[in-house]
Amino acid sequence: MAVRAQRPLIRPLVQRLHAYVPGEQPKILGLIKLNTNENPYPPSPKVLAALKAAVDGRLRLYPNPTAAALRERLAKLHRCAPENIIIGNGSDELLALATRTFVEPKDGFLISTLADGRGRSVDLVKATVQYFNPSYSLYPVLANIAGVQCNAVPLNADFTLPALGSLSKKGWDFKAALSLITTPNAPSGRGYCTAELDALCAKSRGVVVLDEAYVDFARENAMALALKHPHVLVSRTFSKAYSLCFQRVGYFVGHADLISALDKVRDSYNVNGLGQVAALATLDDLPHYRRNFRRIIATRELVTAELTGLGWAVLPSQTNFLLAKPTSFPAEEWLARLRAKKLLVRWFKYPEVRDYLRITIGSEAEMETFVRTVRQLQTAK
Ligand SMILES: Cc1ncc(COP(=O)(O)O)c(C=O)c1O
Repeated sequence: MAVRAQRPLIRPLVQRLHAYVPGEQPKILGLIKLNTNENPYPPSPKVLAALKAAVDGRLRLYPNPTAAALRERLAKLHRCAPENIIIGNGSDELLALATRTFVEPKDGFLISTLADGRGRSVDLVKATVQYFNPSYSLYPVLANIAGVQCNAVPLNADFTLPALGSLSKKGWDFKAALSLITTPNAPSGRGYCTAELDALCAKSRGVVVLDEAYVDFARENAMALALKHPHVLVSRTFSKAYSLCFQRVGYFVGHADLISALDKVRDSYNVNGLGQVAALATLDDLPHYRRNFRRIIATRELVTAELTGLGWAVLPSQTNFLLAKPTSFPAEEWLARLRAKKLLVRWFKYPEVRDYLRITIGSEAEMETFVRTVRQLQTAK
Protein backbone atom coordinates (compact mmCIF):
# COMPACT_ATOMS: atom_id res chain seq x y z
CA MET A 1 0.00 0.00 0.00
CA ALA A 2 1.35 3.43 -0.94
CA VAL A 3 2.30 5.65 2.01
CA ARG A 4 0.32 8.86 1.89
CA ALA A 5 1.89 12.17 2.85
CA GLN A 6 0.82 13.17 6.40
CA ARG A 7 -2.10 15.56 6.26
CA PRO A 8 -2.11 18.39 8.81
CA LEU A 9 -5.23 17.21 10.65
CA ILE A 10 -4.65 19.52 13.60
CA ARG A 11 -4.33 23.30 13.22
CA PRO A 12 -0.71 24.46 13.79
CA LEU A 13 -2.01 26.87 16.44
CA VAL A 14 -3.44 23.93 18.39
CA GLN A 15 -0.35 21.78 17.87
CA ARG A 16 1.74 24.52 19.48
CA LEU A 17 -0.73 25.17 22.28
CA HIS A 18 0.14 24.60 25.95
CA ALA A 19 -3.17 23.72 27.56
CA TYR A 20 -4.23 25.15 30.91
CA VAL A 21 -3.19 22.86 33.76
CA PRO A 22 -5.92 22.66 36.42
CA GLY A 23 -5.08 21.71 40.01
CA GLU A 24 -5.03 17.99 40.72
CA GLN A 25 -8.20 16.19 41.85
CA PRO A 26 -6.63 13.04 43.32
CA LYS A 27 -8.75 10.36 44.98
CA ILE A 28 -6.59 9.63 48.02
CA LEU A 29 -8.38 8.49 51.15
CA GLY A 30 -8.07 11.03 53.97
CA LEU A 31 -6.40 13.66 51.78
CA ILE A 32 -6.88 17.28 52.92
CA LYS A 33 -7.29 19.14 49.67
CA LEU A 34 -6.05 22.72 49.81
CA ASN A 35 -4.96 23.11 46.18
CA THR A 36 -7.87 24.40 44.05
CA ASN A 37 -9.59 27.06 46.18
CA GLU A 38 -12.73 25.00 46.59
CA ASN A 39 -14.98 25.82 49.52
CA PRO A 40 -14.58 23.41 52.46
CA TYR A 41 -18.28 23.66 53.34
CA PRO A 42 -21.02 21.95 51.30
CA PRO A 43 -23.86 23.80 49.56
CA SER A 44 -26.71 24.75 51.93
CA PRO A 45 -29.33 22.07 52.76
CA LYS A 46 -31.89 24.11 50.77
CA VAL A 47 -29.69 23.95 47.67
CA LEU A 48 -29.21 20.20 48.01
CA ALA A 49 -32.97 19.74 48.48
CA ALA A 50 -33.74 21.85 45.39
CA LEU A 51 -31.30 19.81 43.32
CA LYS A 52 -32.73 16.49 44.50
CA ALA A 53 -36.28 17.69 43.77
CA ALA A 54 -35.24 18.62 40.22
CA VAL A 55 -33.88 15.16 39.37
CA ASP A 56 -36.86 13.49 37.69
CA GLY A 57 -38.36 12.92 34.24
CA ARG A 58 -37.75 16.58 33.33
CA LEU A 59 -34.12 15.70 32.67
CA ARG A 60 -35.25 14.72 29.15
CA LEU A 61 -36.02 18.40 28.36
CA TYR A 62 -33.60 21.14 27.34
CA PRO A 63 -33.03 23.74 30.02
CA ASN A 64 -34.03 27.38 29.62
CA PRO A 65 -31.62 28.58 26.90
CA THR A 66 -31.01 32.03 28.42
CA ALA A 67 -31.19 31.01 32.10
CA ALA A 68 -33.94 33.64 32.28
CA ALA A 69 -35.04 33.09 35.90
CA LEU A 70 -31.47 33.19 37.15
CA ARG A 71 -30.69 36.37 35.20
CA GLU A 72 -33.79 38.02 36.68
CA ARG A 73 -32.76 37.09 40.22
CA LEU A 74 -29.21 38.30 39.69
CA ALA A 75 -30.49 41.53 38.16
CA LYS A 76 -32.47 42.20 41.36
CA LEU A 77 -29.41 41.42 43.47
CA HIS A 78 -27.15 43.77 41.51
CA ARG A 79 -29.81 46.40 40.82
CA CYS A 80 -29.63 46.20 37.05
CA ALA A 81 -31.67 44.65 34.21
CA PRO A 82 -31.58 41.00 33.06
CA GLU A 83 -30.15 42.38 29.77
CA ASN A 84 -27.03 43.34 31.75
CA ILE A 85 -26.33 39.71 32.65
CA ILE A 86 -25.09 36.62 30.84
CA ILE A 87 -24.68 33.24 32.54
CA GLY A 88 -21.90 30.83 31.63
CA ASN A 89 -20.84 27.25 32.18
CA GLY A 90 -18.54 28.55 34.91
CA SER A 91 -16.92 31.95 34.52
CA ASP A 92 -14.13 30.24 32.55
CA GLU A 93 -16.55 29.80 29.65
CA LEU A 94 -17.38 33.50 29.67
CA LEU A 95 -13.71 34.50 29.77
CA ALA A 96 -13.19 32.36 26.66
CA LEU A 97 -16.27 33.89 25.04
CA ALA A 98 -14.85 37.35 25.72
CA THR A 99 -11.69 36.59 23.74
CA ARG A 100 -13.81 35.33 20.85
CA THR A 101 -16.23 38.25 20.99
CA PHE A 102 -13.97 41.25 21.57
CA VAL A 103 -10.60 40.45 20.01
CA GLU A 104 -10.25 40.22 16.25
CA PRO A 105 -7.36 37.88 15.42
CA LYS A 106 -5.53 40.28 13.15
CA ASP A 107 -3.31 43.20 13.83
CA GLY A 108 -5.31 46.25 14.84
CA PHE A 109 -9.03 46.62 14.15
CA LEU A 110 -11.63 49.27 14.47
CA ILE A 111 -13.86 48.82 17.47
CA SER A 112 -17.37 49.93 16.59
CA THR A 113 -19.18 52.78 18.29
CA LEU A 114 -20.14 50.43 21.16
CA ALA A 115 -17.74 51.94 23.65
CA ASP A 116 -19.18 55.36 23.04
CA GLY A 117 -22.79 54.30 22.64
CA ARG A 118 -23.74 57.51 20.80
CA GLY A 119 -22.24 56.76 17.42
CA ARG A 120 -19.42 59.23 17.95
CA SER A 121 -15.77 58.27 18.10
CA VAL A 122 -14.25 55.23 16.42
CA ASP A 123 -11.28 54.13 18.50
CA LEU A 124 -8.47 51.97 17.23
CA VAL A 125 -7.77 49.09 19.59
CA LYS A 126 -5.13 46.39 19.31
CA ALA A 127 -5.79 42.67 18.91
CA THR A 128 -4.27 41.98 22.29
CA VAL A 129 -5.38 40.20 25.44
CA GLN A 130 -3.59 41.78 28.37
CA TYR A 131 -3.35 40.99 32.05
CA PHE A 132 -1.10 41.49 35.02
CA ASN A 133 1.54 38.94 35.87
CA PRO A 134 1.12 36.93 37.98
CA SER A 135 -2.64 36.49 37.76
CA TYR A 136 -5.01 33.75 36.57
CA SER A 137 -2.89 31.44 34.39
CA LEU A 138 -5.85 30.66 32.12
CA TYR A 139 -5.67 34.11 30.43
CA PRO A 140 -2.64 33.48 28.17
CA VAL A 141 -4.08 30.09 27.19
CA LEU A 142 -7.32 31.76 26.08
CA ALA A 143 -5.38 34.34 24.07
CA ASN A 144 -3.35 31.59 22.42
CA ILE A 145 -6.48 29.60 21.54
CA ALA A 146 -7.97 32.74 19.99
CA GLY A 147 -4.72 33.28 18.06
CA VAL A 148 -4.21 36.79 19.38
CA GLN A 149 -1.32 38.55 21.03
CA CYS A 150 -0.74 38.44 24.81
CA ASN A 151 0.54 41.33 26.87
CA ALA A 152 1.57 40.25 30.38
CA VAL A 153 2.46 43.29 32.49
CA PRO A 154 4.40 42.71 35.72
CA LEU A 155 2.83 43.67 39.02
CA ASN A 156 5.05 45.41 41.57
CA ALA A 157 7.49 43.08 43.37
CA ASP A 158 5.11 42.86 46.36
CA PHE A 159 2.23 41.95 43.96
CA THR A 160 0.50 45.32 44.39
CA LEU A 161 -0.98 47.12 41.38
CA PRO A 162 1.42 49.59 39.71
CA ALA A 163 0.31 53.22 40.04
CA LEU A 164 -1.82 54.43 37.12
CA GLY A 165 0.85 56.96 36.07
CA SER A 166 3.50 54.23 35.75
CA LEU A 167 1.36 51.67 33.90
CA SER A 168 2.28 52.69 30.36
CA LYS A 169 5.98 52.66 31.28
CA LYS A 170 5.55 49.11 32.61
CA GLY A 171 4.05 48.08 29.26
CA TRP A 172 0.29 48.33 29.93
CA ASP A 173 -1.48 49.21 26.68
CA PHE A 174 -4.66 51.21 27.13
CA LYS A 175 -5.59 50.28 23.56
CA ALA A 176 -5.63 46.52 24.17
CA ALA A 177 -8.89 45.07 22.88
CA LEU A 178 -9.35 43.02 26.06
CA SER A 179 -7.83 43.46 29.50
CA LEU A 180 -8.47 40.76 32.11
CA ILE A 181 -7.88 41.80 35.71
CA THR A 182 -8.28 39.35 38.58
CA THR A 183 -9.52 41.30 41.60
CA PRO A 184 -8.83 40.32 44.30
CA ASN A 185 -5.90 38.73 42.58
CA ALA A 186 -4.89 35.08 42.30
CA PRO A 187 -2.48 33.63 43.21
CA SER A 188 -1.34 36.58 45.36
CA GLY A 189 -4.62 36.98 47.25
CA ARG A 190 -4.16 40.76 47.23
CA GLY A 191 -7.19 43.01 46.96
CA TYR A 192 -7.14 46.02 44.64
CA CYS A 193 -8.65 49.39 45.42
CA THR A 194 -11.87 50.07 43.45
CA ALA A 195 -10.93 53.73 42.93
CA GLU A 196 -7.67 52.65 41.22
CA LEU A 197 -9.51 50.15 39.03
CA ASP A 198 -12.03 52.85 38.14
CA ALA A 199 -9.23 55.17 36.96
CA LEU A 200 -7.63 52.34 34.96
CA CYS A 201 -10.95 51.46 33.31
CA ALA A 202 -11.65 55.12 32.49
CA LYS A 203 -8.39 55.31 30.48
CA SER A 204 -8.96 52.03 28.61
CA ARG A 205 -10.19 51.97 25.00
CA GLY A 206 -10.95 48.26 24.79
CA VAL A 207 -13.09 45.99 26.97
CA VAL A 208 -11.97 45.46 30.58
CA VAL A 209 -13.12 42.35 32.46
CA LEU A 210 -12.78 42.54 36.24
CA ASP A 211 -12.62 38.90 37.29
CA GLU A 212 -14.11 38.85 40.79
CA ALA A 213 -14.02 35.07 41.34
CA TYR A 214 -12.95 35.57 44.99
CA VAL A 215 -14.70 38.86 45.78
CA ASP A 216 -16.98 37.50 48.51
CA PHE A 217 -13.91 37.14 50.75
CA ALA A 218 -12.75 40.72 50.07
CA ARG A 219 -13.38 44.12 51.64
CA GLU A 220 -14.32 45.86 48.37
CA ASN A 221 -15.96 44.93 45.10
CA ALA A 222 -16.03 46.68 41.74
CA MET A 223 -19.56 45.80 40.58
CA ALA A 224 -20.44 49.51 40.32
CA LEU A 225 -17.83 49.89 37.55
CA ALA A 226 -19.67 47.44 35.28
CA LEU A 227 -22.79 49.56 35.58
CA LYS A 228 -20.90 52.84 35.19
CA HIS A 229 -18.57 52.19 32.21
CA PRO A 230 -19.99 50.85 28.92
CA HIS A 231 -16.79 48.89 28.23
CA VAL A 232 -16.37 47.18 31.63
CA LEU A 233 -17.64 43.71 32.58
CA VAL A 234 -17.54 42.17 36.04
CA SER A 235 -17.14 38.40 36.22
CA ARG A 236 -18.53 36.40 39.15
CA THR A 237 -18.81 32.70 39.90
CA PHE A 238 -20.86 30.38 42.09
CA SER A 239 -17.86 28.05 42.32
CA LYS A 240 -15.81 29.40 45.19
CA ALA A 241 -17.88 31.31 47.73
CA TYR A 242 -21.09 29.38 46.96
CA SER A 243 -19.63 25.85 47.02
CA LEU A 244 -20.83 24.98 43.51
CA CYS A 245 -17.66 24.13 41.52
CA PHE A 246 -19.32 20.87 40.46
CA GLN A 247 -22.27 22.65 38.84
CA ARG A 248 -20.30 25.15 36.71
CA VAL A 249 -22.19 28.43 36.95
CA GLY A 250 -20.65 31.88 36.48
CA TYR A 251 -21.86 35.20 35.12
CA PHE A 252 -20.84 38.56 33.67
CA VAL A 253 -22.52 41.88 34.45
CA GLY A 254 -22.14 44.83 32.10
CA HIS A 255 -23.53 47.06 29.37
CA ALA A 256 -26.39 45.45 27.40
CA ASP A 257 -24.49 45.91 24.11
CA LEU A 258 -21.52 43.87 25.34
CA ILE A 259 -23.80 41.26 26.90
CA SER A 260 -25.84 40.81 23.73
CA ALA A 261 -22.62 40.46 21.68
CA LEU A 262 -21.45 37.66 24.01
CA ASP A 263 -24.91 36.15 23.83
CA LYS A 264 -24.63 35.78 20.04
CA VAL A 265 -21.42 33.76 20.38
CA ARG A 266 -22.33 31.38 23.22
CA ASP A 267 -23.79 27.88 22.74
CA SER A 268 -27.58 27.82 22.84
CA TYR A 269 -27.82 25.69 25.99
CA ASN A 270 -24.55 26.62 27.65
CA VAL A 271 -25.81 26.42 31.24
CA ASN A 272 -27.07 23.01 32.34
CA GLY A 273 -30.48 22.81 34.00
CA LEU A 274 -29.33 21.53 37.38
CA GLY A 275 -26.77 24.32 37.51
CA GLN A 276 -29.56 26.87 37.02
CA VAL A 277 -31.63 25.21 39.77
CA ALA A 278 -28.68 25.17 42.18
CA ALA A 279 -27.73 28.80 41.54
CA LEU A 280 -31.32 30.00 42.03
CA ALA A 281 -31.64 28.08 45.30
CA THR A 282 -28.31 29.55 46.41
CA LEU A 283 -29.65 33.07 45.89
CA ASP A 284 -32.64 32.11 48.11
CA ASP A 285 -30.27 31.27 50.96
CA LEU A 286 -27.66 34.04 50.97
CA PRO A 287 -27.51 34.45 54.79
CA HIS A 288 -26.26 30.84 55.01
CA TYR A 289 -23.39 31.66 52.65
CA ARG A 290 -22.56 34.97 54.33
CA ARG A 291 -22.00 33.01 57.56
CA ASN A 292 -19.61 30.74 55.63
CA PHE A 293 -17.67 33.73 54.25
CA ARG A 294 -17.18 35.06 57.79
CA ARG A 295 -16.03 31.65 58.97
CA ILE A 296 -13.50 31.24 56.15
CA ILE A 297 -12.19 34.79 56.63
CA ALA A 298 -11.73 34.16 60.38
CA THR A 299 -9.83 30.92 59.65
CA ARG A 300 -7.73 32.74 57.03
CA GLU A 301 -6.66 35.35 59.57
CA LEU A 302 -5.82 32.69 62.18
CA VAL A 303 -3.70 30.67 59.75
CA THR A 304 -1.95 33.86 58.56
CA ALA A 305 -1.00 34.64 62.17
CA GLU A 306 0.15 31.05 62.87
CA LEU A 307 2.32 30.79 59.75
CA THR A 308 3.77 34.27 60.32
CA GLY A 309 4.66 33.12 63.84
CA LEU A 310 6.52 30.18 62.29
CA GLY A 311 8.60 32.56 60.18
CA TRP A 312 6.66 32.26 56.90
CA ALA A 313 6.13 35.42 54.83
CA VAL A 314 2.36 35.47 54.25
CA LEU A 315 0.80 38.00 51.90
CA PRO A 316 -2.31 39.75 53.25
CA SER A 317 -5.21 37.91 51.60
CA GLN A 318 -8.65 39.12 50.48
CA THR A 319 -9.54 35.67 49.16
CA ASN A 320 -10.10 32.10 50.39
CA PHE A 321 -6.42 31.21 49.97
CA LEU A 322 -3.00 32.39 51.10
CA LEU A 323 0.19 32.91 49.14
CA ALA A 324 3.02 32.23 51.56
CA LYS A 325 6.80 31.97 51.30
CA PRO A 326 7.86 29.14 53.62
CA THR A 327 10.98 28.88 55.69
CA SER A 328 13.29 25.85 56.31
CA PHE A 329 12.79 24.14 52.91
CA PRO A 330 12.20 25.43 49.36
CA ALA A 331 8.51 25.72 48.44
CA GLU A 332 8.66 22.80 46.00
CA GLU A 333 10.04 20.56 48.74
CA TRP A 334 7.29 21.66 51.12
CA LEU A 335 4.77 20.58 48.48
CA ALA A 336 6.21 17.04 48.51
CA ARG A 337 6.65 16.86 52.31
CA LEU A 338 3.08 18.03 52.91
CA ARG A 339 1.73 15.64 50.30
CA ALA A 340 3.46 12.75 52.07
CA LYS A 341 1.37 13.79 55.11
CA LYS A 342 -1.81 13.84 52.99
CA LEU A 343 -1.99 17.64 52.73
CA LEU A 344 -2.23 18.88 49.15
CA VAL A 345 -1.38 22.53 48.45
CA ARG A 346 -0.46 24.25 45.15
CA TRP A 347 2.97 25.19 43.91
CA PHE A 348 3.52 27.01 40.61
CA LYS A 349 6.84 26.81 38.84
CA TYR A 350 6.54 30.31 37.31
CA PRO A 351 9.54 32.45 38.33
CA GLU A 352 7.46 35.14 40.11
CA VAL A 353 5.86 32.68 42.55
CA ARG A 354 8.10 29.59 42.63
CA ASP A 355 9.27 30.47 46.16
CA TYR A 356 5.68 30.43 47.44
CA LEU A 357 2.92 27.95 48.23
CA ARG A 358 -0.72 28.73 47.56
CA ILE A 359 -2.84 27.32 50.35
CA THR A 360 -6.63 27.16 50.11
CA ILE A 361 -8.41 27.90 53.38
CA GLY A 362 -10.11 24.68 54.44
CA SER A 363 -12.34 24.02 57.45
CA GLU A 364 -11.13 24.94 60.95
CA ALA A 365 -10.19 21.29 61.63
CA GLU A 366 -8.32 20.93 58.31
CA MET A 367 -6.34 24.09 58.94
CA GLU A 368 -5.48 23.02 62.48
CA THR A 369 -4.03 19.82 60.99
CA PHE A 370 -2.19 21.86 58.36
CA VAL A 371 -0.58 24.23 60.88
CA ARG A 372 0.26 21.37 63.27
CA THR A 373 1.94 19.43 60.42
CA VAL A 374 3.91 22.47 59.26
CA ARG A 375 5.14 23.01 62.82
CA GLN A 376 6.17 19.34 63.14
CA LEU A 377 8.00 19.28 59.80
CA GLN A 378 9.77 22.50 60.61
CA THR A 379 10.92 21.48 64.09
CA ALA A 380 11.97 17.99 62.89
CA LYS A 381 14.36 19.62 60.41
C1 LIG B 1 -9.35 34.12 38.98
C2 LIG B 1 -10.29 33.04 38.56
N1 LIG B 1 -11.26 33.32 37.68
C3 LIG B 1 -12.12 32.38 37.26
C4 LIG B 1 -12.03 31.09 37.72
C5 LIG B 1 -12.97 30.05 37.15
O1 LIG B 1 -14.08 29.88 37.90
P1 LIG B 1 -15.30 28.99 37.35
O2 LIG B 1 -15.34 27.80 38.21
O3 LIG B 1 -16.50 29.90 37.50
O4 LIG B 1 -15.05 28.67 35.91
C6 LIG B 1 -11.05 30.74 38.64
C7 LIG B 1 -10.93 29.36 39.11
O5 LIG B 1 -9.98 28.92 39.67
C8 LIG B 1 -10.15 31.74 39.08
O6 LIG B 1 -9.16 31.45 39.94
